[in-house]
Amino acid sequence: MDAAYKRINGNHSPEAETDNQSTRRRRGSMYLEEETDKKSEVISCIFSLKEEVGALARALRLFEEKGINLTHIESRPSQMNKSQYEFYISVEPTCSQALDEVINSLRTQISGHVHELSRNKQKDTVPWFPNDIQDLDRFANQILSYGSELDADHPGFTDPVYRARRKEFADIAYNYRHGQIIPRVEYTEEEKATWGTVFKELKGLYPTHACREHNRVFPLLEKYCGYRQDNIPQLEDVSRFLQSCTGFRLRPVAGLLSSRDFLAGLAFRVFHSTQYIRHGSKPTYTPEPDICHELLGHVPLFADPSFAQFSQEIGLASLGAPDEYIEKLATVYWFTVEFGLCKQGSEIKAFGAGLLSSFGELQYCLTDKPKLQPFDPDKTSIQKYPITEYQPVYFVAESFEDAKEKVRKFAATIPKPFAVRYNPYTQSIEVLETTQQLRNLADSINSEMGKLCEALQKLK
Ligand SMILES: [Fe+2]
Repeated sequence: MDAAYKRINGNHSPEAETDNQSTRRRRGSMYLEEETDKKSEVISCIFSLKEEVGALARALRLFEEKGINLTHIESRPSQMNKSQYEFYISVEPTCSQALDEVINSLRTQISGHVHELSRNKQKDTVPWFPNDIQDLDRFANQILSYGSELDADHPGFTDPVYRARRKEFADIAYNYRHGQIIPRVEYTEEEKATWGTVFKELKGLYPTHACREHNRVFPLLEKYCGYRQDNIPQLEDVSRFLQSCTGFRLRPVAGLLSSRDFLAGLAFRVFHSTQYIRHGSKPTYTPEPDICHELLGHVPLFADPSFAQFSQEIGLASLGAPDEYIEKLATVYWFTVEFGLCKQGSEIKAFGAGLLSSFGELQYCLTDKPKLQPFDPDKTSIQKYPITEYQPVYFVAESFEDAKEKVRKFAATIPKPFAVRYNPYTQSIEVLETTQQLRNLADSINSEMGKLCEALQKLK
């Protein structure tokens, strides 16, 4: 095999990545020609000079004096000022500092107008993000705390049997890799009893308190995934069901992921799920997500196409976003996917998993005690919230479609030097920054539009 062709190695850590640009260019295929990114190897700028004899020679002398080698130069009459000429030049990035001095001199000595086109400063600081669904393996174990480490106020803190059990679950997740079957777990009678208590109480509330999407999917989960009072469903079965509905899949997680990593999973329609259950001494309370929260709260909604699209939109927005925007997106996630309410006809219903998995808060959120505000990412993203008590404020979405459009508009305000899209065929993120990528996207949309037109004609 030619040395220029190299299998992308998915086992090195994100920290080992030193070149975000070349990493991003690998997206979309496991095998790809290793190309040199010429674009990132040059700094380009345009400067304009008065049209007079010797003007260009004087300008070029400034470059020569600083030892800068021009790798490209073009000229054209200025469109802004008829008495000027514009020069487009490229230099190597090693000349970055010297170029600053030349630009200064051009401005002060020659009265030239200088417009810098690219220096890739912004691109160099884009945080790493997974480009392929298998890349999720690379941060799956970069967890903030291992699942078996419990806080002193956790109901299972002094229970050695529970702690050993938690370690078993954490180990399953720790050893899991994308593409594997999620190991099945034989739940104990005590664990099933805890599940049964939660299941029974919540199921009684869903018809009156849950959104219609949740109520539409729940019977399907009972039919196809073993949702029963006396049975804790297996993540693998549920994941397969979700994949057949919306392409969403579950992946076991060994502990708490950072917001950036967790949100990145959503971009690939991957939901990081716990597999353990809360401590049996307090079946209606858990200080952390557990399998009751995931399977009863999250899973039904991920089977809904509009909600799945909305969730992925948050994930895509997070890729490469600066830290302050990750915090904002995590807050938007909190007030929607976790604690969201939505309008349904003349009523308001719950769709957030934190509500749909909490008997107490599911009732409380629809009383007149909390304050309700319309969902607006600009405001929602900066709302402070408590994590250990019922929410004093909830945000109400008009619909999932409306919420998705609002998140999309909010995402467009995140300072990033590129747009991304998910390619479901390759299960990878495409960074839209070259004309070829835009052409590919246009071809794809064109093909879809053709199908739409054909279908519309046949409808007539
Ligand atoms: Fe959750």
